Amino acid sequence: MILKDKKILLGVSSSIAIYKALELVRLFKREGAEVFVVMTRNAKKLINPLLFSALSGNPTFWEMFLEEKKYLHLELVQNIHLFLIAPATANIISKIAHGIADDLLTTSVLACKSPIVIAPAMNVNMWEKKVIQQNIENLKRNGFFIIEPEEGELGCGEKGKGRMAEPEKILNFVKSLLLEEKKRIKFVITGGATESNIDKIRIITNRASGLLSVLLAEICHQLGYEVTLILGRSEYYPALPIKVKRVSTNEEMLNAIKEEAAENTCLIMNAAPCDYQVKEIFPSKLKDEELELKLVRNIDILKALKETQFLCKVGFSCDTENELKEGERKLKEKSLSICVINPSETIGKKEIKATLLFENGKKKEFPLMDKKEFAFKLIEEIELWLKEKHLIQ
Ligand SMILES: Cc1cc2nc3c(=O)[nH]c(=O)nc-3n(C[C@H](O)[C@H](O)[C@H](O)COP(=O)(O)O)c2cc1C
Repeated sequence: MILKDKKILLGVSSSIAIYKALELVRLFKREGAEVFVVMTRNAKKLINPLLFSALSGNPTFWEMFLEEKKYLHLELVQNIHLFLIAPATANIISKIAHGIADDLLTTSVLACKSPIVIAPAMNVNMWEKKVIQQNIENLKRNGFFIIEPEEGELGCGEKGKGRMAEPEKILNFVKSLLLEEKKRIKFVITGGATESNIDKIRIITNRASGLLSVLLAEICHQLGYEVTLILGRSEYYPALPIKVKRVSTNEEMLNAIKEEAAENTCLIMNAAPCDYQVKEIFPSKLKDEELELKLVRNIDILKALKETQFLCKVGFSCDTENELKEGERKLKEKSLSICVINPSETIGKKEIKATLLFENGKKKEFPLMDKKEFAFKLIEEIELWLKEKHLIQ
């Protein structure tokens, strides 16, 4: 649901490629966007608007002068994130290039302050006409985004350039345009367990699997954020091209976070660092009948980062008793934006039943769910938090 909360206005004109606009509505909906459709009167002659309404779940518009909606051309573009015109006929392209506003679609274009993307579709001779090429250049110069048509067999039976780009390609273009803002924000996510040496061979560590951190990193990557995963001991590794830094000890993890903390960074401290370390590491592998280990407190990574600036700092709290109180204590002591209370039973499991505590006192409990589902929900909560703080739109 990468386009969740995004509103897209789809302008449809009367090209043979109009059937692909139906697929576009379906793809945008699948990604969570809300879609409204505005058609030209000629487009209505090729496809019944009811089909767009049924797929988008919203009414479809084409009429400019309506008694009940006097400023529909302004209303349609008021809160949209993007206006996509697909398919765009030679006629629509030329009208927009010259600022003509003689119907609802073209008038809405003039009233629109959001990015406007145009996907032309036409016969090869029409596409190659000098005047159309000049109009396309004119649109590009004026800030319109053009998704070039493709070469191949055309609806009319001829071959050449003019086929509207495939809906999946248009979807990808829209996604990268809408997610541009996210590239400004970086997520540093820690995961897995750290270790503490007993000697050159043996270690002490904990049961954390690293699964949630890998899922969080993959979701952030898919959403368009820059991501670094700082991973201790873990059974899991990302399947996507994500920057991963492997570390063993708390000290290494702390240093890696400091290295990665740039401007506009959100930290999700999902790792389970060893809170104790062996006081004196044995220089060789001892074979005595009995060994006594003295453990001392290890570096508290979040406390050590108290002075480091993050857009948002998310910590995890896992205890066997007084979970809520411990979570509240960590939220304050470690200056967290959000503290995730993670019950000890879910360590190493594929499911989680978490509670979120927010710095403003808000509390949110989630039922037992798949860690992937929870990872999505946690990122949604972080985005909401960033929006409330006006750090993202
Ligand atoms: C079956 C059919 C398919 C058409 N396909 C296209 C097309 O792909 N591209 C185009 O520019 N015009 C195409 N036309 C011509 C346009 O429909 C015509 O120029 C119309 O006036 C454009 O109106 P509109 O831009 O307001 O929708 C087609 C016409 C018909 C009858």
